Amino acid sequence: MTHCASCHGVDGYAQPDARYASIVGLSSIRRVKTDALVGVIAFGAKGAFNTAPKMPGFSKDVSPAQIASITNYVRVTFGGLPNSDVSAADVTRVIKEKS
Ligand code: HEC
Repeated sequence: MTHCASCHGVDGYAQPDARYASIVGLSSIRRVKTDALVGVIAFGAKGAFNTAPKMPGFSKDVSPAQIASITNYVRVTFGGLPNSDVSAADVTRVIKEKS
C-alpha cells in the first residue's frame, strides 16, 4: 500500500488513470529464480514502456526483510504461486551483487 499501490494499484492491475502495465500473472514474478524480481524492487525498473515516472528503487528506504516480504507477497498474490520463500539474506545478497 505505502510503496507500490500508487502506481500498481492495490490489486496489481495498476491505477486506472496511470498508464502502468498490470503486474498480475507476469512470468517475471513467477520465476523460480527471484534475483531479477528482487533487483527490480531494490533498484527500480528502467521501463520498457514510455511511462513516467519510472519505477524507483527501494533499497534505500525499505529494509531487506521488508523487500523480502514484498517480493513474496507479489509472487503469491499477483503471481498465483502457492508459496514463496525469499529471505532477507537473499535480498542482501542481491543488493550486494547488483550495486
Ligand atoms: C512510480 C511508480 C511505481 C512505483 C511506486 C512502483 N512501481 Fe513497479 N513498475 C513501475 C513501472 C513503470 C514498471 C514497468 C517497467 C517496465 O516497463 O518493464 C514497473 C514494473 C514492475 C514489475 C514488473 C517487473 C518486470 O521485470 O517485469 C513489478 C513486479 C513491480 N513493478 C513491482 C513493484 C513493487 C513491489 C513496488 C513497491 C515496492 C513497485 N513496483 C513500485 C512503476 C512503479
